[in-house]
Amino acid sequence: MTIKIYVPLDSGSIALGADDVAIAVSNEIGARNLDAKLVRNGSRGMYWLEPMVEVETPNGRFAYGPVTPKDVASLFDADFIAGSDHPLALGPTEDIPFLKKQTRLTFARCGIIDPLSIEDYRAYEGFAGLDKAVTMKPADIVKQVTDSGLRGRGGAGFPTGVKWNTVLGAESPQKYIVCNADEGDSGTFADRMIMEGEPFVLIEGMAIAGIATGATKGYLYTRSEYPDAIRVMEEAIEVARAGGILGKNILGSEYDFDMEVRTGAGAYVCGEETSLLNSLEGKRGVVRAKPPLPALEGFLGRPTVVNNVLSLASVPIIMDKGAEFYRDFGMGRSRGTIPIQLAGNIKFGGLFETAFGLTLGELVDDIGGGTATGRPVRAVQVGGPLGAYFPRDLFDTPFDYEEFAKRDGLIGHAGIVVFDDSVDLMKQARFAMEFCAIESCGKCTPCRIGAVRGVETVDKIAKGEEPEAQIELLHDLCDTMKFGSLCALGGFTPYPVLSALTHFPEDFKPRALDIAAE
Ligand SMILES: Cc1cc2nc3c(=O)[nH]c(=O)nc-3n(C[C@H](O)[C@H](O)[C@H](O)COP(=O)(O)O)c2cc1C
Ligand code: SF4
Repeated sequence: MTIKIYVPLDSGSIALGADDVAIAVSNEIGARNLDAKLVRNGSRGMYWLEPMVEVETPNGRFAYGPVTPKDVASLFDADFIAGSDHPLALGPTEDIPFLKKQTRLTFARCGIIDPLSIEDYRAYEGFAGLDKAVTMKPADIVKQVTDSGLRGRGGAGFPTGVKWNTVLGAESPQKYIVCNADEGDSGTFADRMIMEGEPFVLIEGMAIAGIATGATKGYLYTRSEYPDAIRVMEEAIEVARAGGILGKNILGSEYDFDMEVRTGAGAYVCGEETSLLNSLEGKRGVVRAKPPLPALEGFLGRPTVVNNVLSLASVPIIMDKGAEFYRDFGMGRSRGTIPIQLAGNIKFGGLFETAFGLTLGELVDDIGGGTATGRPVRAVQVGGPLGAYFPRDLFDTPFDYEEFAKRDGLIGHAGIVVFDDSVDLMKQARFAMEFCAIESCGKCTPCRIGAVRGVETVDKIAKGEEPEAQIELLHDLCDTMKFGSLCALGGFTPYPVLSALTHFPEDFKPRALDIAAE
């Protein structure tokens, strides 16, 4: 039997040397004349172990890592293809604690299969959701998604079924599904991992969304900084088309659905849905006023579902296993699982999919192992650049939309960026304002001007120009931005600033900020 050796093609793994490891593995297979095959899989999401090489044995998959090209010959010498011991041996992959503790519903096959093999995908129950959807009425699909409690994973947490129902009810000769794969939040990479490691689950989710709402055309909007994801997705779309999953009469049904990839230049604001739609139409990425909602007047003025990658990629399992199965995971109004991304200064950085409800402390200290530097954790920023900084005192906050909101925080796209005790929160507050000033689309004054004034105000505190009055002014400015901005870029920038002021007031003191050095 041909032995399969897996080396990830995920761009995070490639950045750590996976391509060179793959070449070395291939060379050794040839030189030793072995009956073995190199498979490029997605990443399992344990980035401190990448490049992680796996081998399929009669006793399951065994993992080795992190592997460098010069380790490869010694792995073959030690007979790793039989799962033998080696200094880099990690044991059976599924037994690695970081993986074992997870509940992988959205990422069920990521890292396990060859991302471009429909046969592999089917062998692991892929397309079971679409198989059911093509036999159902659109309204019944929408009901199932609504009943599952799925909420948008892009940031706002809006119920997916409610959005789909609006598009289903809209009368129009043409409707669209737009997948938001812009993934601009700091510390996030889950969308990219799905696109590179399990593209068919996203294609399946988009096709189901099309059937459910009457949309026959889909666009996947991503950024030019994701060249590997773009390549894998484009190839996967071709494979899916050839396999009857996309195009006319999908899976032999009465339903048509096709899709293509569109690439933006990588502006944070182009992740905001209306700005994204402008960019998709070839216009400047400026935010549109709502109403009209994109669900009624979206792409080219037609009813459009705009959903995040993870929202759409969660739909196939809901269709396959049922709304109740999915709903059973989670807490409160946060149902199902959430792929959490552990990033920044953290020992075990990577993707951890789990039911909603673990506390921030469990995630950072127990799962993430604390900081990579070994120094104490001082703050974490959850939810991207617009998310609040939480101190250790708030580490009992469960991962849940409402629980975070109660403490003036947000989950966003579920990225957690960890900082040790060397972090300067006044500098982080300045950075939040500066980020907003740079990324602002310029449409409204509180954001366009407010963010610039915010930077100046923090600089005045640092220079000791009436610091107390400036802090008061900063609060005022945040108030104006929060309530006067047209979209969440300007409206949520106050979250990191106010949380820094509230939880770390001791950092807002006159002193040299050392900004130019960065
Ligand atoms: C400034 C800004 C940036 C955003 N960036 C993203 C993004 O990169 N990806 C994303 O899915 N949603 C992003 N959103 C949220 C989208 O506007 C929208 O809520 C989301 O695509 C809806 O999909 P969902 O309901 O599946 O989450 C952003 C919002 C704002 C205000
Ligand atoms: S808040 Fe900022 S990004 Fe949003 S519409 Fe206003 S200027 Fe544009």
